[in-house]
Amino acid sequence: MLNYQSILSEIESEVNYLKGVGNVAAYIPELANVSQDHFGISLILLNGENHNVGQTHQKFSIQSISKVFSLALAFSIQGEKLWRRVGVEPSGNPFNSIVQLEYEKGIPRNPFVNAGALVTADILVSSYDHPKKEFLEFVRSFCGDNSIDFNEKVAQSEFDCGWKNAALANMLKSHGNLKNTIDEVLDFYVHQCSIEMTCLQLAQSFLPFANQNCEINGEVVLTKSELKRINAIMLSCGFYDESGEFAFSVGLPGKSGVGGGIAAIHPLHYAVATWSPRLNEKGNSVIGMKALELLTTKTGISIF
Ligand code: DON
Repeated sequence: MLNYQSILSEIESEVNYLKGVGNVAAYIPELANVSQDHFGISLILLNGENHNVGQTHQKFSIQSISKVFSLALAFSIQGEKLWRRVGVEPSGNPFNSIVQLEYEKGIPRNPFVNAGALVTADILVSSYDHPKKEFLEFVRSFCGDNSIDFNEKVAQSEFDCGWKNAALANMLKSHGNLKNTIDEVLDFYVHQCSIEMTCLQLAQSFLPFANQNCEINGEVVLTKSELKRINAIMLSCGFYDESGEFAFSVGLPGKSGVGGGIAAIHPLHYAVATWSPRLNEKGNSVIGMKALELLTTKTGISIF
């Protein structure tokens, strides 16, 4: 039997040397208001047993990790039709790059680059009278916690400064791959990114992906095959132009966010979430990446 609690404690002390490395995201000004050297890690086994070390009860902005939930909801609504509007290939480019979108005529490489997430946001805006409310309910039910909420200040801060996302939305619109107005889609997108969770809540909300079973109120929301596909996209695209590195050094499907969070799963074993706000140049948490590498090294288990 693995002693996860002591493994997580070892990890906490072994990542200490990285404190102070990297920078917090400041291109969304409100995100810079964070204690830069926090670290937390929560791991939940399929039976609900959880292990926590560090700042695991402090909320942070999940940012791009929300793209997993928006993909899940859009996929559950659209089924295979979704893949007519967004691809499933790694981009090899930064998360907010626009060049590939122009070459590829408005079809984003995958649902996790910003352009792809704007398309899934557009689908959700089209699908509901109150899309933000419905999305929040969906995320709350994944987490089993009704206290999950948007951070309006963070959403507004990104809306006010999100010039690249506005450019991507305009490019998508020019290719006919956004049905709603640019402002409606951006408003939804900045809200989904502004959702706050603790490490423990984030790990909890990734359990359905680890469990390969996603039922809400007794109803199957995503089939086993749909969950497999989302996990595959997490593995190949979850860290943008560092997805290969994450698969190489960690070996788990996962998703990062510029708030410094990373969620990852070991199918049929556990879900894990880390938070440490300083990012590397690719926009991924420096300490989070190292902590997860140590986790799969120390446990000796990954998907490979
Ligand atoms: O669109 C943005 O730039 C942010 N709301 C989210 C980017 C993000 O989290 C990238 N992930 N590492």
